[in-house]
Amino acid sequence: MARLDVMETFHGIMFPGHLHTQDCLQLAIRFPFQDTDVLIASYPKSGTTWVQEIVTLICSKGDPQFSQAIPNWTRAPWLEQYYCAPILEASPTSSPRVITTHLPHHLLGPAFQDSKPKVIYVSRNPKDVLVSYYHFHKMANFLPEAGTFQEFFSNFLEGKMCYGSWFDHVKGWTSQTVTMNNLLHITYEEMSQNLHDAIKRISSFLQCPLLEEEINNCMKHCSFSSMRDNKMVNYTLVPAEIMDHSKGSFMRKGKTGDWKTMFTDEQNQHFKHVYRTRMQDCSLKSVWAEQDEEECVC
Ligand code: A3P
Repeated sequence: MARLDVMETFHGIMFPGHLHTQDCLQLAIRFPFQDTDVLIASYPKSGTTWVQEIVTLICSKGDPQFSQAIPNWTRAPWLEQYYCAPILEASPTSSPRVITTHLPHHLLGPAFQDSKPKVIYVSRNPKDVLVSYYHFHKMANFLPEAGTFQEFFSNFLEGKMCYGSWFDHVKGWTSQTVTMNNLLHITYEEMSQNLHDAIKRISSFLQCPLLEEEINNCMKHCSFSSMRDNKMVNYTLVPAEIMDHSKGSFMRKGKTGDWKTMFTDEQNQHFKHVYRTRMQDCSLKSVWAEQDEEECVC
């Protein structure tokens, strides 16, 4: 399925037609989850692939054999993408089933009515998401043209992006932490600052406690440099007509605060204003929000 120039609009949100059809999006929002499933949910560029790697490694007690042999999109397929159903059918006994999604909570929430999968929601400083997403648009031929950074910046703040508005996505999922005791919210920044504790938190949430040596092995194999060199996770298996590796790397920088290399002072002020307005009804307190408060950034 090429459809590189096709965009699907589903419930008012744009999805790349290369990976999504109306049918598979419909199937996703009615997916029969099982209580044993692990669902990784995120807005794009928030550390999704990193959490996929961490979960795979936790499940194999730090042994990298599986994560170095099977592509991430096969071991943790995106629920809303067209190839998900055949992958899950081909491996009905894998336990736990690890599934990924970029769908907003308001679309996927009804699918949780009869089951309680373990949900890990990963979020990231939206300024770094914006910059990472901008660079990704340049290399991913299934996404719309990035345009200038200023154009991309405006589209991001207005929510005119594939997978919708960052603000709605984060508010929708994180507001569920109050009622869903099967939801763990973790941030990219927490993983960057203390990977050891982040792995421990995720492994205890998954009820898969690890020995210290196993945690250290997980840390080794999900470091930025290990993942950058692992072709099962660095997307170099994807052909150049779909992801143009001459225009950038999926495993780009892996840093926090990279927005500072791109944002002008004016853009930063504007971002702060929009952030405050859009997030005023959100009780979310996270590492990056606190950091940005200290720096008077948000
Ligand atoms: P950058 O573009 O800022 O480098 P996603 O998987 O949600 O698409 O997110 C991709 C972002 O996560 C990219 O950010 C990528 O480099 C970063 N990333 C992936 N694995 C990482 C790791 N092990 N350590 C730090 N950052 C990582």
